[in-house]
This record gives sequence, C-alpha cells and structure tokens, in this order.
Amino acid sequence: MIKKIGVLTGGGDSSAINSAIRAVYVRSSMYGYKVFGIRNGWDGLVSGLGFDLSKDSVSGILYEGGTMLGTSRTNPFKIEGGVEKVKENIKKFGLDALITIGGDDTNGVLNRLSQYNIKGVGIPQTIDNDIISTDYCIGFDSAVEIVTDSIDKLHTTASSHHRIMIVEVMGRDAGWLALYGGLAGGADVILIPEEKFSYDKIVNVIEKRRERGKDFSIIVVAEGAKPEKLEKQVTVSVKVDNFGHVQLGGIGKLIAQEIEKRTGYETRVTILGHLQRGGKPTAFDRIVATRLGVGAVDLVHQGKFNNMVCIKNEKVTAVPIAEALKGQKPMNFDLYELSKIFY
Ligand code: F6P
Repeated sequence: MIKKIGVLTGGGDSSAINSAIRAVYVRSSMYGYKVFGIRNGWDGLVSGLGFDLSKDSVSGILYEGGTMLGTSRTNPFKIEGGVEKVKENIKKFGLDALITIGGDDTNGVLNRLSQYNIKGVGIPQTIDNDIISTDYCIGFDSAVEIVTDSIDKLHTTASSHHRIMIVEVMGRDAGWLALYGGLAGGADVILIPEEKFSYDKIVNVIEKRRERGKDFSIIVVAEGAKPEKLEKQVTVSVKVDNFGHVQLGGIGKLIAQEIEKRTGYETRVTILGHLQRGGKPTAFDRIVATRLGVGAVDLVHQGKFNNMVCIKNEKVTAVPIAEALKGQKPMNFDLYELSKIFY
C-alpha cells in the first residue's frame, strides 16, 4: 500500500528536472500519495535530509532550470554504513517507494538497492543522452539548444577574424550532444568519441572550404573524442568521482594546436562546459520530463518497481533498470555519416 513516495535527483543536473519533479508531485496527488523531496541526490538518504513537497513548492518550477532538490554525485555504496543509513532514513521518512531522476550512476544505485527490498522507479536524466533504453533523456534537448545557439554566435566571430573555431562540448563518452548540436548549428566538422578522428581529414575540410572562399571553419568536438593515435581521452585531472568517472576536458586545445601547426591558420577554442547544463528548459524537454514524471508515478501505482520509465518511438514504456543501463546507447552512425555530407 503506497502512501508516500520519495523523489531524488542525482548526478549531473540539466534544465528540465524541475518539470519532472512537478509532474511526479501532481500525478502522485491524483493517487492520494504524499511526495517527500530528498535533498541532494543519494546524499539526502545517507544524511537524512529532505522535506514534504506541496502544491506551492512545485508551483512555478516547470520553466526553472536545475533541480529544486539539489543534486550530488554521492554513492551510498562508497560510504561506510551508507546503505544502512539509506534504509534507516527510508523508514524514518516513511517512504513506500522511491523515484530517482538521473543518469546511469543514480539509477544504478537504485537497481543495486533492490536487493535490500528497496522499491523504486528510475527516470532517465542526463544531457549526455546515453541511456540505451530511451529515445530521450531529460536535459538533452535543452543542451542541444545551447550548443546550437553557441555555434550560431561563434559563426560571426570566426567569419570576422577568418579563424578556425573549435567548440568543445560535453557528453562524456557519448557523441549525441556534439552530433545534434553540430548538425543543427551547421558545424563544418563534428568529432565524436564513438569514432576516432583523423587530423588529415580535418585539415582537408578546412582547406577545401578555403578554396571555396570560406576562410573560417567551425569544428565541434565531444569532450571524450580522441584522434587516431591517442589511446586515452584528454582529462582535466586524474581524480575520479564516486562512480569512477574522470573529469574530461582539453581535447579542443589539442586539436587547435595541431591545426595551427599544420595549416598556420589562427585557431581559437571555446569550451561550453556547464553552460550546457543551465538555463531554462526547452518546450520539448518540458514535455519529455512531464511524460516521464507522470509515467514513473504510474509505474509505482502499478507496483512495477525496479524499472526505468522510458520513451521509445513516442510511447512511454517501462524497461527493467538492469537492462536499461546495460551499456551505452549505440551511436546513430547513419546520422553521423549524414552530417558529413555538409562538410
Ligand atoms: O554526465 C553529465 C555531464 O555533464 C557530462 O557530460 C560531463 O562530463 C560531466 O557531467 C561533468 O560533471 P561535473 O558537473 O561533476 O563536472
């Protein structure tokens, strides 16, 4: 018998999480469920931090970026007694089920906790859009909009200065942001982690453009992309987070140095960084988040726990979390090859 649902938002944030929180609250109220907002992802259940949500607390958040609950990269399985504390606080707050909004790390913890009979449903949220079981993750469309708009802006200054502009985007080991943002922004070259790139080919595109009188180029590179001869991704530091992830960054600078060395053309780098995670959600993202938030509560109501609520071919579906997180969403190479016809 469900009386109270705990909702948490974990991992890297994005712009439409609050749309999902609002949907979870409104749908829960229809079933007579209370909703408890757990603070700062899994940390809230380790430290015992949270508060009852109300109609007022979710009013006016549909269009607010970020997460009203806060987030963290806390992993209870990496904390001495962390799982015990989670179980204690679930009991203390009287939570009958959890809804966890995040990427593979956040929802992977929920999956692991099912062995302790902790019931919950996951919602896919990450700008990386790398969760295999869903067509869209919350946050992806808003991040694509930011990448596209940034490329539009960089076009004017690249053209004015006759420069090669390298735009480094997020996505960790996935190239979806680079591909969609680059395609929409009319990038001249798009580089993704799923395919090692060749400097010769990049230089060839730049020179061909110059022959046509286009003395500037825009190159979009995913932070996890690598050139043919480089084995390891370029990182900011050797530190890893609680889920073993390094902080990627710097491939843009490496490409700029190599391009300048090979062509002599002035090159500049823009790392979009956390701009891709901020600001207001797009309309599409709000719809994705609303559908997934409502869908997650429906799965709780149907007792379909340990599932991820997904959108597949425009339908809201349920996929067992273990299956939903098995590997990274494979790149759409047809679309990647299509993007090359515009080089
Ligand atoms: O997973 C989302 C993401 O934005 C990645 O694209 C990026 O590499 C990472 O998070 C950055 O993490 P943080 O915000 O902890 O620096």
